[in-house]
Amino acid sequence: MRVLNFGSLNIDYVYQVDHFVQPGETMSSLSLQVNCGGKGLNQSVALARAGVEVWHAGCIGLEGEFLRDKLISAGVNTTFVRQVEGSTGHAIIQVDRSGQNSILLYDGANSLITEPFVDEVLEHFGPGDVVLLQNETSCVGYIMDRAAERGMRIALNAAPANEKLNGLPLEKLSWLLVNEVEGAFLAGTEDPEEIARVLTARYPQTMLVLTLGTQGSLAAMGEMRVRMPARTVKAVDTTAAGDTFTGYFLRGVLDERSLEESLGLAAAASALAVTREGAADAVPAYDEAEAFYRS
Ligand code: RIB
Repeated sequence: MRVLNFGSLNIDYVYQVDHFVQPGETMSSLSLQVNCGGKGLNQSVALARAGVEVWHAGCIGLEGEFLRDKLISAGVNTTFVRQVEGSTGHAIIQVDRSGQNSILLYDGANSLITEPFVDEVLEHFGPGDVVLLQNETSCVGYIMDRAAERGMRIALNAAPANEKLNGLPLEKLSWLLVNEVEGAFLAGTEDPEEIARVLTARYPQTMLVLTLGTQGSLAAMGEMRVRMPARTVKAVDTTAAGDTFTGYFLRGVLDERSLEESLGLAAAASALAVTREGAADAVPAYDEAEAFYRS
């Protein structure tokens, strides 16, 4: 089984700060790191480290070729990573003393995925394959429609939450993965139980996976609910915790493991990720995540 991740690729400029810069404030940062990131790239790295065969499709500018190198070194197939005219997507990330982040995105080449490019890539995939998407690229709805026509199962990490989510054919999803902010945006309520009730009623064929930070995670479909507590760790940088969770959760369900085990493995892997700085570089290897899950 292959996962095609039609996903974002970003250069992350990560600033360590005392506190997030406030409106009207000018503030010096404590340090700067330039990392490989983008929810798409991070999720491809997480899938590959989790042992899944993953093909990444997406767009970068000339200065983003090191992002391709990162994917290749993680074992991701990059045949469909295309270099285009224009700037690579980037993110300006502030990380405060408690490890929390705030992220400003510039879409750049991530918004240059076109319908002909999608058609060209999808020709190589079909029933039995899974397509993974995030809300950081162009053509997300088009990819969902065409992938469904080809009999592929579709997973969407609906991040970040914004108006682009409205109008997507979410009923075609096999898996919808959201955090509490994205879940609240889609469901119109902040209570996790209500988010699950609203979204499972609206999308009865879709498994909802709701991550709740230190409150753990929840998988829901129809009346079924499976809850998993979070692992307690000292957070250094929460960037890519959700991406790590997505990659490892998909590894579990694609292996046909139980939901308890899939959520538990994902919780362990993402807990390890927050103990490290960076995005893709923070994703743990499979053996490490599995050992922590069993501990
Ligand atoms: O989920 C973390 C990612 O979000 C960062 O790597 C940044 O690039 C943004 O896409």
